[in-house]
Amino acid sequence: MLLPKHRFIVNELEGKKMETNNGQFALVTGGNRGIGFAIAKGLLQKGLMVIITARSLEKAKQAAEKLQAYGEVVPIELDVTDDNSIEQAVETIAQNTSKLDVLINNAGIYPDNGVNILNISRDLLDSTLNANTFGAISMVQNFLPFLEKSTDARVINVSSNMGALQDLTATAPSYCLSKFALNGATIMLSQALRSKGITVNSIDPGWVRTDMGGDNASRSPEQGADTAIWLATEAQRNETGKFWRDRKVISY
Ligand SMILES: NC(=O)c1ccc[n+]([C@@H]2O[C@H](COP(=O)([O-])OP(=O)(O)OC[C@H]3O[C@@H](n4cnc5c(N)ncnc54)[C@H](OP(=O)(O)O)[C@@H]3O)[C@@H](O)[C@H]2O)c1
Repeated sequence: MLLPKHRFIVNELEGKKMETNNGQFALVTGGNRGIGFAIAKGLLQKGLMVIITARSLEKAKQAAEKLQAYGEVVPIELDVTDDNSIEQAVETIAQNTSKLDVLINNAGIYPDNGVNILNISRDLLDSTLNANTFGAISMVQNFLPFLEKSTDARVINVSSNMGALQDLTATAPSYCLSKFALNGATIMLSQALRSKGITVNSIDPGWVRTDMGGDNASRSPEQGADTAIWLATEAQRNETGKFWRDRKVISY
């Protein structure tokens, strides 16, 4: 799958004139559904060209079809737990752009049903941290050459309040640890990338109605996506290494 060449487009949607493509490129992992899909939609509406990834190309394509009314979107297959898959995505994307302005590490899993910190297996801890934490770190490492080419590169890690010190809970052990560690990675990555002018922040989207959050959650995917979109496009460039909810800094 090759990226279409960069184009300048103007779309009409629901009577609103869309912004022209602003020459910025974003990549959203897990962009085929839930919060990632809503983040991709919001970035498209702001004129960015958005690469959405899913673990299957078919799912990514189906989501891209739904999003194409909002702007230029490109589906890519990517499993964040698989370095070969990440490298393949890098190669595919490199054929058409060498620059990435926004990287949204949104892909995540919540597999802690019926386990607690006293009985969870090492395998489950391993697979959750691999997806939720190490995946984000590996994405930054592999896409760093692309981010370095942007004059305004921003990385946003979609974390959770369940990774905050005060909300760690023994009945969601691998998920809490993975988001706690993801927040640690945000701090370390922001330190390591400060001199390059690349910002790195974590967000808590709140409790959101998605496959993960369930039907009873209090927020829509669009509400859950808002702070990530704001950090990606509007927040001050000196904001880095922080944890955010509803566009405000919260405690790690
Ligand atoms: N929903 C909430 O209430 C809530 C609250 C706090 C934080 N969050 C965080 O928000 C993010 C998005 O959650 P969501 O509610 O939108 O969940 P979701 O509806 O379950 O979607 C999860 C997304 O992650 C992708 N994904 C999972 N494992 C992956 C992997 N190994 N490689 C690449 N993609 C992978 C999924 O792709 P497939 O379709 O291929 O499975 C899917 O696109 C997650 O990081 C989650 O922890 C959610």
